[in-house]
Amino acid sequence: MRKKGEKSKQGRNRTYIVAGFTFVLLVGAIMWVGSTNRNINQSIEGLDQGDEFQEVKRSPNEDESTDHAEENPQGTNGPDEEPLRDKEKVPFIGEDSNEVDTSESSKSVQEKPTNPAGYLEGQELPKEPKYIDGILLANKQYPLPKNFAPGESQEAREAFNELAAAAVTSGINLQAFSTYRSYDYQVTLYNRYVERDGQEAADRYSARPGYSEHQTGLAFDIGEVNHEKYWASTSFGSTEAAKWLAAHAYEYGFILRYPKGKEEVTGYMHESWHYRYVGKATAEKIFKQNITLEEYLGIR
Ligand code: DAL
Ligand code: ZN
Repeated sequence: MRKKGEKSKQGRNRTYIVAGFTFVLLVGAIMWVGSTNRNINQSIEGLDQGDEFQEVKRSPNEDESTDHAEENPQGTNGPDEEPLRDKEKVPFIGEDSNEVDTSESSKSVQEKPTNPAGYLEGQELPKEPKYIDGILLANKQYPLPKNFAPGESQEAREAFNELAAAAVTSGINLQAFSTYRSYDYQVTLYNRYVERDGQEAADRYSARPGYSEHQTGLAFDIGEVNHEKYWASTSFGSTEAAKWLAAHAYEYGFILRYPKGKEEVTGYMHESWHYRYVGKATAEKIFKQNITLEEYLGIR
């Protein structure tokens, strides 16, 4: 027969073992979560080390679409003018209507199940692009047709030129290092990231082909001239240029498309360099309400 004291000693030992085991499990879990986040941050920073913008520079389309920020520093759009329309390219980007599209076609997409990356299960690329209130949409729920190839928006480029000219007066030299990207080019980029970082990580910062806003010709990845090391890097966010952009881009019709803390809404990690042209009136509303394009359009 064991004495009472021995029994309680055994009980205490068991408690210590269970507590120790739980502690080891907890530490392991914390380290695992930490390393996952670190890997993704490294992936994002890796974009500037030989991937996205360098490929963009090599591509003939993107050669044309980059490096022209200083060629037309005055831009063409006065502050109160109607936005220009790209002839035969991207149709009118709606400016004034804040109404939510309540049509069945816009609602039904939200009711379908999404996979962990935020894409709709079994979705095929559409025959026509999706516009809500005249605003062209490209996100994980609303892809573009494979053959949708408008090229860089002239209206967005002119607005960027105005933006860049204003930045110069604050001593900041901006450059759009990646703008229009074709479906095929996004295939190359996305596949490379998946190969490098795995699909789960890549899906947080790179759009699958057909889903990239760059295919609209309205997305501009912006950095500073001669500061390539910050291009498409999380480190850009702490620069004066990024802060200036975050404060002023809306005045020229651009919105920060993937803000901090909105990954659940936009589908992507924060990208301090990725701006989307929506026109001045819309950009001002989105900026002043501190919301995303999805929230503005009422689809999130
Ligand atoms: N980096 C953005 C999400 C894209 O690939 O379009
Ligand atoms: Zn981008």
